[in-house]
Amino acid sequence: MMNKHNIINIKSLDIQTIHELLIRALFFKNNPQTVTLTNKIIGNLFFEPSTRTHCSFQAAIQRCGGNSIDLQLEYSSMKKGESLEDTVKTMEQYCDLLVIRHPEKDFIERCTDYISIPIINAGNGDGEHPTQALLDLFTIQQSHNLHKSLKIAFCGDLKHSRTCHSLVYLLDKICDHITFYFISDDLLVLDDIFFHQLRNKYICGNDLGEVISSIDVLYMTRLQKERMKYTNIFSPLLLPTLKNISITNDMLNEAKPDMILLHPLPRNEELPRECDSNPRSKYFEQMKNGVYMRMAILEWCLAV
Ligand code: NCD
Repeated sequence: MMNKHNIINIKSLDIQTIHELLIRALFFKNNPQTVTLTNKIIGNLFFEPSTRTHCSFQAAIQRCGGNSIDLQLEYSSMKKGESLEDTVKTMEQYCDLLVIRHPEKDFIERCTDYISIPIINAGNGDGEHPTQALLDLFTIQQSHNLHKSLKIAFCGDLKHSRTCHSLVYLLDKICDHITFYFISDDLLVLDDIFFHQLRNKYICGNDLGEVISSIDVLYMTRLQKERMKYTNIFSPLLLPTLKNISITNDMLNEAKPDMILLHPLPRNEELPRECDSNPRSKYFEQMKNGVYMRMAILEWCLAV
């Protein structure tokens, strides 16, 4: 188990691996039909809804000539009372690698204790989403030099957004000249643990309009209403403040011409469709990059 390549969180990824993954993702972007996964079977276990992560893993597997088994929860023996652990253990018998998404923060990490094939975290509750962060980093790197000074704003529900958590950790790990701007409602700020750990500078605010003209990257997220149910945070009182953590096309036009706007999607009111044709909007490109980064990740995890 020692040499197994899992991707569970950003902390356990070393800097050299991150750079290798960026290089391989670019290779796959230029060579999108490279067969590296012949005879490999990937198990996709999504215990939470997913469009982009699930389908881009599927696309990556197919582009690399691999095969996949998607656990169909509705028709699985979990409906007969089978435990989660037995379900995952069963999939291990059929597959070479498991991609898992689960609403509990600790479930995926716990799987590494009793599963001996590689595991990729495709989202653990409001914890992390490391493969999304890697594809986000790849997208940022395509337009900005990561070694120069960069102003990167995260805007929205920073408390519950696992994509933000992983990307903040990742950028902080590999960049030395970032100023982070964390723009959110007071109820939705990052937990203190982030601020204690950050190496780079950060500024917190609650109005996107105040920073839009000075930043290089804007990373928007939706309100994670399904997670607020558990923390009792969601209240209609929050709604009037939402316009300060939303964007419009007029605001976007105030940004620098080379500023890029990213969003992991799905989106709600915070990112209207009128922004889609703005040249700064890169979220569709970001999605496509997800396939190339996941091709690189699968190759690395299977050490092929
Ligand atoms: C995100 C997720 O599932 O965490 N989407 C994604 O994977 N691209 C973001 C979200 O649900 O808001």
